[in-house]
Amino acid sequence: MLQDQITQYTEEINAFSTSNAAELEQFRIRFLGTKGIIKDIFDEFKAVSPEEKRTLGKVLNQFKQLAEAKYQTLNDTISASQDTADSNQFDLTLPGEGFELGTRHPLAIVRREIIEIFNKLGFSVAEGPEIEDDWHNFSALNFPEEHPARDMQDTFFIKKGGEKGDIALRTHTSSVQVRMMEAGQPPFRALMPGRVYRNEAISARAHCFFHQVEGLYVDEKVSFADLKQTLFYFVQELYGEGTKVRFRPSYFPFTEPSAEMDISCSICKGAGCQMCKGSGWVEILGCGMVDPNVLENCGIDSKKYSGFAFGMGIERIANLKFEIKDLRLFSENDVRFLKQYQSATI
Ligand code: DAH
Repeated sequence: MLQDQITQYTEEINAFSTSNAAELEQFRIRFLGTKGIIKDIFDEFKAVSPEEKRTLGKVLNQFKQLAEAKYQTLNDTISASQDTADSNQFDLTLPGEGFELGTRHPLAIVRREIIEIFNKLGFSVAEGPEIEDDWHNFSALNFPEEHPARDMQDTFFIKKGGEKGDIALRTHTSSVQVRMMEAGQPPFRALMPGRVYRNEAISARAHCFFHQVEGLYVDEKVSFADLKQTLFYFVQELYGEGTKVRFRPSYFPFTEPSAEMDISCSICKGAGCQMCKGSGWVEILGCGMVDPNVLENCGIDSKKYSGFAFGMGIERIANLKFEIKDLRLFSENDVRFLKQYQSATI
């Protein structure tokens, strides 16, 4: 009797197939559930005679395994197809998730522009250390020992004494000129951008660090006319054709003669405004012919070679370009400020 039932259910199980999870669950409940057929048959099995138990026991176990295997196989197939169905649910036509690009810092924009202009004249780019010794920052540049000219720049000293004098944060990029000239022989034609430090109280108009670009050109027969033409070209490229320049005599220990260069105010075009304090002119850099003493200090024959140098503050150039009047904005890294220069070219 039990045997007949098992044969009949075996056929039913063999014939069963589904790809539907709900139907499979019905199958599981019907055969394998706690109140299912297999449970019933096992209960009935308890009542059969011991001889029958021996043969029937085996059949019964096989039957149970058959039901379990059937359930397992169908369940595996259904969940695998469910996974692919899930992955097909991605809507590939949805717009992608945007990611925000960073922006170039206004000082980086200006620095790149300056370098690009001088590249066209054959100037390469060189860099030097921000922690400098007295020799490279002062002495080699013709600042005499104890000379008040050293007070022109309020220095952050790091260490007293040392092989090449006191160690300090460089106060200007002119130190890189020295390093370049010490390392080789003319011709030199390079731009030296970098950060410099001065012991100043931080305000809208002064900061304890800022950025400069130094320029150096040394070769045979380099003249003040070369200096003027180079800087004139630079200004036309940077601020547009028609920008006027004027040179005022000045003093720097490392150049002789020395000058400061003004340009016609790029904001009011010379008419007079707040930026140029009504004068129509703004100063943008210092320059001059490299003092022969500096050439000699660096191992270069000043009878054979001459050169010019110049130095400008990048913040100043950016100020004239973008009218950023508060120097502190450059180092606060406020994204609301930085984002404004996203597409700026100058
Ligand atoms: N080093 C000067 C400064 O920091 C700027 C400067 C002036 C650099 C004249 C030069 C130069 O190379 O020739 O104020």
